[in-house]
Amino acid sequence: MLDTIEEIQTRFEAGGYIADRSLATSVHLARTLGKPIFLEGEPGVGKTELAKVMAGVLGSELIRLQCYEGLDVHNALYEWNYLRQLLEVRMQEARGVEKGQIGRNIFSDEFLLERPLLRAVRWEGPAPAVLLIDEIDRADEEFEAFLLEVLSDFQITIPEIGTIKSRQTPFVVLTSNRTREVHDALKRRCLYQWIDYPDMEKEWRIICTKVPGIGDQLSFQICRFMELLREEEFYKRPGIAESLDWARALLALGIEELAPDIVADTLSCLLKYKSDQEKLTGERLLKAIAVSRNFKAGLTLAGGSTAI
Ligand SMILES: Nc1ncnc2c1ncn2[C@@H]1O[C@H](COP(=O)(O)OP(=O)(O)OP(=O)(O)O)[C@@H](O)[C@H]1O
Ligand SMILES: [Mg+2]
Repeated sequence: MLDTIEEIQTRFEAGGYIADRSLATSVHLARTLGKPIFLEGEPGVGKTELAKVMAGVLGSELIRLQCYEGLDVHNALYEWNYLRQLLEVRMQEARGVEKGQIGRNIFSDEFLLERPLLRAVRWEGPAPAVLLIDEIDRADEEFEAFLLEVLSDFQITIPEIGTIKSRQTPFVVLTSNRTREVHDALKRRCLYQWIDYPDMEKEWRIICTKVPGIGDQLSFQICRFMELLREEEFYKRPGIAESLDWARALLALGIEELAPDIVADTLSCLLKYKSDQEKLTGERLLKAIAVSRNFKAGLTLAGGSTAI
């Protein structure tokens, strides 16, 4: 299963994810070499989704560690359930357990709160779990150093219990939006893959897969319009998530092709900053719509860009 690059592309597509060859190759290599895959790219280009789809394709579990500033080892690895421990001690006291014996069992598995990294290390299959370490750039550098250790040997030591070694190394996906550079030492342990905004053909395939019922004319025009938009200097350029939202919105409104009023009214699906919306008005907006409407799919899919 998933032994070739083509098979990865096919299975991913069946799971609703369009992977181009270079991405599918990285997934293939990550599996064969047993290395984590490190995905970087603009927001909304499919980094998190890849891990979700991989878990679906493997028929396994997605174990997600969402990173944020201040994330520490306890939130990532394990914590002791202090409340249960306290209760246990009180109950033992009430039962009249001998003083020296009270609380002897409270540092055992029963009182452990498993967090994502421990869950991943203890995972036993049958298929490998997918460990998603999402938005690592948001975590502090100390956490990154700690992660480096875990990813190197996939074992965790809990002083009161002992060392737990992974029986089945998970498929690890790390993602970053590049709000800061991730340390080279971490990148070195991973296969690095940059995910760019999709070309028109890829975006078209994604829209057709994710928005069933959308007509060719509208989907082609949306893709061309998105391509034009991404050539602009916006504060936040729209990703695939925005194209999909827009496509769904237009379909829900019964629109068959782009027109100035409807685009102006639905621009909020694409541009989430007032300053960006203000940039795309008047002549500029009309030109982008005209270029998109003139777009002839077969002829222009590979064609050059027409800046607006
Ligand atoms: N290649 C793809 N095939 C199918 N759907 C895709 C693809 N890329 C992105 N999507 C869709 O786009 C949306 C955004 O994807 P996702 O959340 O993975 O982006 P992201 O890169 O993790 O963004 P962020 O950095 O904001 O977290 C999802 O709804 C996902 O289904
Ligand atoms: Mg994401």
